[in-house]
Parts: sequence; structure tokens; C-alpha cells
Amino acid sequence: MLKIRQLDDNQNIEGKRILLRVDFNVPMNNGSITEASRIQKVLPTIKYLINKKAKIIIISHLGRPKGKMVPKLTLEPIAKNLSEHLNQKVFFLNKSIGKDVVEKSKTISGGAVLLLENLRFSEKEESNSKHFAEELAKNGDIYINEAFSCSHREHASVSEITKHINSYAGKVMIKEINAIKMLTDNPKKPVTCIVGGSKISTKIGVLLNLIKKVETIVIVGAMANNFIKYNGNNIGGSVYEKNQEALLKDIFEQCKTNNCKLILPEDVIVAKNTRSKGQKKTLNKIDDTDLILDIGEKTVEKIFKIIEKSKTILWNGPAGYFEENEFSSGSNNIAKKITENTKNKSLVSIAGGGDTAAAINKFGCSDGFTYISTAGGAFLELLEGKILPGIKALEINE
Ligand code: 3PG
Repeated sequence: MLKIRQLDDNQNIEGKRILLRVDFNVPMNNGSITEASRIQKVLPTIKYLINKKAKIIIISHLGRPKGKMVPKLTLEPIAKNLSEHLNQKVFFLNKSIGKDVVEKSKTISGGAVLLLENLRFSEKEESNSKHFAEELAKNGDIYINEAFSCSHREHASVSEITKHINSYAGKVMIKEINAIKMLTDNPKKPVTCIVGGSKISTKIGVLLNLIKKVETIVIVGAMANNFIKYNGNNIGGSVYEKNQEALLKDIFEQCKTNNCKLILPEDVIVAKNTRSKGQKKTLNKIDDTDLILDIGEKTVEKIFKIIEKSKTILWNGPAGYFEENEFSSGSNNIAKKITENTKNKSLVSIAGGGDTAAAINKFGCSDGFTYISTAGGAFLELLEGKILPGIKALEINE
């Protein structure tokens, strides 16, 4: 079990300034939020602090503005969205440090919420600057980190800040870490991992770590194209990552050595582009103008049988281009089957990654999983067995 600093529920925090690091790095289009699950996720914590009459000062980044003020990456629209969720005004300041901010953090009343501007408008956030962390720390009496999805970043608001203010992990962050740890440390066996997504190089560490721990790995989505091509099949114009032969060879060898079954698609849905009609094909029928956009029925059936036998499932990366209904069947079927078995057969199911969470949401299965993490990189790095700076900073050293 992880030993991490947690705020005592009995501590009186009325009137105290809680500096709350969240991850409001949400998808936006022309100033509107297109997917708000990262905001919804921390609402219980914010509401809890409101009920306790704490002064809540929220900090976050959005996008990668590289130390410059980028107007379309301001957090101002998020203040509006948050205030609708909370049904109360959310104050917004167009800076994150300085006298005015400290002043405002002190003058707001207990239960009020103040959102500060995008931390990454200063290059000092990403350089983990001591000075920036000290200045940020002045905005609160207590720091709580609810941004598990940022804990792989050694940034000022995640790492250095904990040296300058009493710091704790939030309840959502702890739940998230424990769910992922349960998977790597002590899972109910047999364990199956379903891995999709496009870039094999970003998931190689995770795959190599999981191969040693789980019974079956199922490769789907654009990730599978690399394996299909490596096995000598034509993948037409499908997405794949060049020059990964050595990595792929290693994965095949490691699976053999560790007795881990590697399952690849047997059939696929192809189309000439993402807007045209899909066509079922076996791997030997794919031609030069085809794009592989989903897994086929036979592959789905095979995955169903594997899910049926599993006691724990990890799912990271959709099975196809689920954004178009025509190519969403693979991901939809996987989401529904996992949901069914989680409910009826006490399957432990953990899903992670922004796209996977969005797919599960789209298919109405958000309540069907044991845990869904909205974290991308942090989720993968924890699965890989890495030490994350944001977690390390909050660990209790005995
Ligand atoms: C994420 O979306 O994974 C986190 O918000 C971290 O963002 P980053 O990859 O830009 O550091």
C-alpha cells in the first residue's frame, strides 16, 4: 500500500486557503470545452472543500504554451464551466503569482472558489523553478494535489512546490494510484491487457513491463498495424510507426520467454478514408489503398472469450477509429463486454488514457468499469513501474 500524505478529515480547514492543483488540461475547440471528464472528476473534492468553508484556490495548466501567454489557452472559459458545475461563482485571475493573487486568495470568503491563470504561461512552471514554486505556495496555507495525470511531470506546481507548503495528495489522486497499483502489485489472475493507440514507441516500456506480469496481451487499434505489418501482411495506407522492427521483435521474444499470450487481430474493417463505408477483410486481403480502421468480428469474438476467462482487465487505447460510428464497433463491443463482466462476474476492470475514457463515455459504459483513469502519460509511466515525481514528492518517508 502506498504511503502518501493525506489531509486528516477531522482537521478544521474553515477559512484556510487550500491551493488545489488539478488537471484542467481538457480538449477545447474555439474556447469551448469538448470533453469535461477531468473537470467532473475533481468536483467531489471541490464540493467537499466548499462544505468545509475553505478558501479554494485552483491551479492548473492547459496545453503546451511553452512559457508564453497564448490567448486560446487561457483558463478563463474553464472558470465559467466550473461555475456552472458548482452552481456558484468562480472567480478568475489572469495571473498565477504575485501580490494581487495573494491578496485575492486572502480576501475571498470561506467556501469561495478562485481559479488562477494557466501555470504554463510562465516557463518557470516546466523548469520546476524554486522561485516560481515559492511564489505559488504563497497563494495557499495547504496544498492538495488532485492532478494524478500530471504527476509524471517534474514541474513547479507538482514537485518543487511541496517543499514550500504543507502538502497532501487528494482523495481522487489516491484512489487513482491505488487502482493502478492494484493492477501491477497484486491483481486477481488471470490478467489481460488490451492495448491500442497508435505509437508503439510510447508504450514499449509498459508492454515490456506488463509481459512479465500478465497472462495475455491483446493488441488492437493502430498499434496492431505495426504487428500485422511485421508479420508480413500488407497494411495499405494504414497508420504505423516506422523503424520499430527491433522493438517488435523484442516484444515477440519477451512474450515467449515469459509465457505471455500475445493476441493480434485476425480480421479488420478497412475503408478508403475515414468518411467512407467500412468493409470486412481478413489480413491477406488488404490492398494498397486500404486503411485499417477497426478490428473485425472474428477478432471481437476472440477478445470476448479472453475477457470471459479474465479476472482482471486493463484497457488502454481504443480498438479503432471510434470517433466515426462506422469504425466504433470494436471499441464499443469491448466496452460493453467488460461492463457486463464487471457487473455480473466481479471482473476487476481498469481503463486508462484520454481516448479510451472518451470511447467508454461515448458508449455509455462509464459506470461499468471498476476504475477509469483520465490520465495519459502518468497512467502509462506508473504501469511501467516508474517513480513519478508528483507522487514521490508526497510520499511519507519513514
Ligand atoms: C496530460 O494530458 O497527460 C497531462 O495534462 C499532462 O500534460 P502534458 O503531457 O502536456 O505534460
